[in-house]
Amino acid sequence: MSTTEKDPHGVYPPSPEFVRHAHVQGIDGYRDLYRRAEQDPEAFWGEIASEQIHWFEKWTRVLDWQPPFAHWFVGAKTNVSYNCLDRHAASHRKNKIAILWEGEPGEHRHITYQELLRLVCRFANVLKARGLKAGDRSIIYMPMVPELAVAMLACARLGITHSVVFGGFSAEALKARIQDLGASVVITCDGGYRRGKEVALKPAVDEALAAGECPTIKDVIVYKRTGSNVSMTSGRDSWWHELDAALPDSADFCPAVELDSEHPLYVLYTSGTTGKPKGILHMTGGYLTHVTATMKWVFDLKDSDTFWCSADIGWVTGHSYVVYGPLSAGATTLMYEGAPDYPQFDRFWKIIARHRVNTFYTSPTAIRALIRQGDQWPEAHDLSSLRLLGSVGEPINPAAWEWYYRVIGKGRCPIVDTWWQTETGGMLIAPMPGAVPLKPGSGTLPMPGVIPDIVDFHGYPVEPGREGFLILRRPWPGMIRNIWGDPERFKEQYWTKVPGAYFTGDAARCDSDGYYWILGRVDDVMNVSGHRLSTMEVESALVKHPFVAEAAVVGKPHEITGQAVCCFVTLKKGHASEHEKLGKELRQWVAHEIGAFARPEEIRFTDALPKTRSGKIMRRLLREIVSSNTVSGDVTTLEDLSVIANLAAQTDED
Ligand code: PRX
Repeated sequence: MSTTEKDPHGVYPPSPEFVRHAHVQGIDGYRDLYRRAEQDPEAFWGEIASEQIHWFEKWTRVLDWQPPFAHWFVGAKTNVSYNCLDRHAASHRKNKIAILWEGEPGEHRHITYQELLRLVCRFANVLKARGLKAGDRSIIYMPMVPELAVAMLACARLGITHSVVFGGFSAEALKARIQDLGASVVITCDGGYRRGKEVALKPAVDEALAAGECPTIKDVIVYKRTGSNVSMTSGRDSWWHELDAALPDSADFCPAVELDSEHPLYVLYTSGTTGKPKGILHMTGGYLTHVTATMKWVFDLKDSDTFWCSADIGWVTGHSYVVYGPLSAGATTLMYEGAPDYPQFDRFWKIIARHRVNTFYTSPTAIRALIRQGDQWPEAHDLSSLRLLGSVGEPINPAAWEWYYRVIGKGRCPIVDTWWQTETGGMLIAPMPGAVPLKPGSGTLPMPGVIPDIVDFHGYPVEPGREGFLILRRPWPGMIRNIWGDPERFKEQYWTKVPGAYFTGDAARCDSDGYYWILGRVDDVMNVSGHRLSTMEVESALVKHPFVAEAAVVGKPHEITGQAVCCFVTLKKGHASEHEKLGKELRQWVAHEIGAFARPEEIRFTDALPKTRSGKIMRRLLREIVSSNTVSGDVTTLEDLSVIANLAAQTDED
């Protein structure tokens, strides 16, 4: 492979030094693994699962595939919490740091595997004492404190299916998730810290549970983080530390329940193409195998590594690569509570230098935001401990890639650009850094066992090099098993577009070296700062406002966040003169309905929205308007062409 016109940003092979120490060495090492998985996926995954995971009982079959329903490691028994804790605490890793935590105000905690096991067991005993057991569901709504991981692992230990709700979601969003999941307990905090301010969480829980709208909730357990005043409802709310203090001496241990490989581990809500978020269901054995294997393949994890994934645990990246993947693989995982720019723009670089971080995994949005502040911030710190960098959540533009490579990695550290989704559980297209030459902006090659394809509207493969829809032709262990409570939506959403194949919702292109280039979503899902947000979700929030008649929402290209939320709004009669005030109010309204991260960048008021004769809003036109203020192509199906002219002439009212 050479740097040619087709790779204008060059090809970056791994250095001989990196290859020498890598788990998978050279392109032949990768190809060998890939070939073995392709030829006999069951034997391949069976071997990986036997080597890397502890099973109380082995499977009778590796895979039972009845499209679209997969069962991995059929009949086997295991436990995620056991794999993340007990087996390391009984090994040379007993006193190794499992979680290295830094709070935003600057505190540090170094929690060893042995100590983490003790904390998890104690909290599992708290849950047990409240009558919670396998099959029950919990909601975890916490900031990035170690107790968030403790709560997840305690639930996993007992077989309680958890759903972590990102702390940036509002009370409304929290309520919808509690109701959909039928959870019986909420585990939360008084609050957390973000940019020096307290983010209150318990008041949002109170709001979500008010007026008896979540009747399944029997218990609210509150971990004290900030010490601020919160109201506690008697008979429902308890302090974590008080429940802990009431445990007997024997509570330092709690056996891990031997769970079926297909026991539901967690549900994570993500945005789809409707207003209602989807509860993505992940199971135990397959998910654990997938995230553990990719720690070694993609992060080339060494026992001596300090591994830092800067994602919030409220998103899938945090589930798989802050908690479950790193801990199952026996890593030291760094957890940071706060913002990258607090108190100054060098917080990330300071953390890397202070803790001698070896692998740093973050989002292109964070990189772009930090580039803007100038090289003097990273240059003031010793980043020489870094040996590997990673990127996730959205396409990384070559300019950001080059900066990350040169200024942060000093030209020594490969960058693993990892493509995956909440639904895929773990990485699916990503380089093995000691094996695969990199091309800035490409996720490179598929993981072993992953068979992607690029197809047209009719499901036929496109010619090599052409753009099309990215699909996956074979099941993989970490794959989504269902949408919680909605198997029909699961089938319809992912499995009907190309029969027998998984539809990713992304457009992509595969070049002549077999490298995949992800081009973005093809559905009505926006990607804001690497976070998924549905246009319909924002529209549903807007039309709940008493003055709004209709709303259409599209993603607008944004220099830092990739996309920004842009809303077209028509008002009910009598409110036309209140644009400026209303613009502000509606942005706040959306933040209240969904969460601050969904706050629209722009509200444009219009008399009418462009629609087809059948009444469908023509989003393509709106997307064009927000990206270039012009429209092109076929608009003959428009009901009212004059609408377009008016929309294009509008300026931001807010
Ligand atoms: O469009 C793709 C984009 O993020 C979507 C998945 O979002 P979510 O489920 O929130 O998970 C994000 C973290 C795994 C994908 O459909 N995406 C994710 N990673 C990349 C990406 N786009 C380009 N390159 C990536 N590395």
